[in-house]
Amino acid sequence: MSFQLPDLPYSFDALEPHIDARTMEIHHGKHHAGYTSKLNAAIDGTEYAGKSIEDILANVDSLGAGIRNNGGGYYNHSLFWNVMGPNGGGNPSGSLASAIDSDLGGMDKLKETFNNAAATQFGSGWAWVIVGGDGKLHVTSTPNQDNNLMPGVGPHGTPILGLDVWEHAYYLNYQNRRPDYISAFWNVINWNQVAQNYASIKG
Ligand SMILES: [Fe+2]
Repeated sequence: MSFQLPDLPYSFDALEPHIDARTMEIHHGKHHAGYTSKLNAAIDGTEYAGKSIEDILANVDSLGAGIRNNGGGYYNHSLFWNVMGPNGGGNPSGSLASAIDSDLGGMDKLKETFNNAAATQFGSGWAWVIVGGDGKLHVTSTPNQDNNLMPGVGPHGTPILGLDVWEHAYYLNYQNRRPDYISAFWNVINWNQVAQNYASIKG
């Protein structure tokens, strides 16, 4: 059983004007599709064929760069599409909101910390909110297609919200203005999905 490119849960133009349809079409149909097919090719015939993506990511330190980069790319983009939506924005509620208050100093502080992590990640990478091994929320960033499920990528934890800051994610619409793209992201966050991601870890 090989990995499949997941369908976008909305149309290409659903996130406009914040993220344009052409970017979404290329990002999903070319970039994410590429990571998916290259991951399948890299694990084909190995002991990792048929394993879950989480199992693969937990062992990437002993696997080749092809599996690390494409496995990360497959997982990260699958999360990314789902934490955005056409009716996004606003604020989280419930236990996630409480955790943001207690672990991250509240929504205003989260925005400040997350925006800084996303803006200062040099070159290509991701900004994250993760649930760490301590059960608390943390804001972090990673280079390339790494994420905090990978051994040696600190702090270790499970992403519940991620922002792709590779140029392929924003260059058509924003050119070099990464901070504008980061600001726009807050208008498309699907907090219901982020809360579900949080609940699935915290139980
Ligand atoms: Fe991407």
